Amino acid sequence: MGLKIDELKEKNIDLSKPVVLYEEENHTVAWVGSSEESIFRCNAYLISAGDKNVLVDPGGIQHFEQVRKRVRELLGSESRITHIISHHQDPDVAGSIPNWLKVNPEIEIITTPRTKVLLPYYGFDGNSVKWLEVSSLDDTLLELEDSSVLVFLSSPFLHFPDAFVTYDSRAKLLFSGDIFAAIQKKWELVVRDFEKHKLEMMYFHVYYMASNKALKYFVDKVKPFEIDAIIPQHGSIIPKEFVKEAFSFLENLKCGIDLLYEESPVKDIINDLF
Ligand SMILES: [Fe+2]
Ligand SMILES: [Fe+2]
Repeated sequence: MGLKIDELKEKNIDLSKPVVLYEEENHTVAWVGSSEESIFRCNAYLISAGDKNVLVDPGGIQHFEQVRKRVRELLGSESRITHIISHHQDPDVAGSIPNWLKVNPEIEIITTPRTKVLLPYYGFDGNSVKWLEVSSLDDTLLELEDSSVLVFLSSPFLHFPDAFVTYDSRAKLLFSGDIFAAIQKKWELVVRDFEKHKLEMMYFHVYYMASNKALKYFVDKVKPFEIDAIIPQHGSIIPKEFVKEAFSFLENLKCGIDLLYEESPVKDIINDLF
């Protein structure tokens, strides 16, 4: 029972199946994909509590079948998905939303106003879908049956101007979207070597994240929360032992427009990557 992430570090995990990350009475969090042979590997997650089954960043169209299979294994039927969180509108995050709406047209999509404008371009009618709009005031919550909440916190310019992240108050997990994402030659579900992982996160953040100012603003906001693991959309999960270091890595990183006016490390990064 409880958080299983530390146990998972030591195991050989069957990634063709869903992987339970947290399990307590009436509250489960699982990794449900998407596995692919790529340095830019995507993750989707499922939070289940009572009558709510919340799919987090379901992935691209090509991820749909495998995510659906894992969800079905956990819930019995994929039509039991009640909510989708789309932390921003990129195709690797949200391309499969029309497929999910076909499975259950009653799904409520949780996202920010500016993401809401863009998502229907994947090919669905935004006027006939249920939305929960995430306010930039950080006061939007989804109450779960076990009296815990999902808290939605804006993360401006990381990397979309109206991006956000999700905090699960029961499991104490931070679903960070593209923040804390990593580009990895060899993916593993949970980080073991954090020194190596910092480099892998750097590859992604220098290109995608707007500036150090935006990173600092975000870290200041989420630091007060009790966080037992950071759960990103790309790359490995960051367990509790590295959470503090991950925050300090982020608040000190120069990225995006910071690098326009200084000697850029991008060439070194590319050499190192390939
Ligand atoms: Fe993205
Ligand atoms: Fe992404």
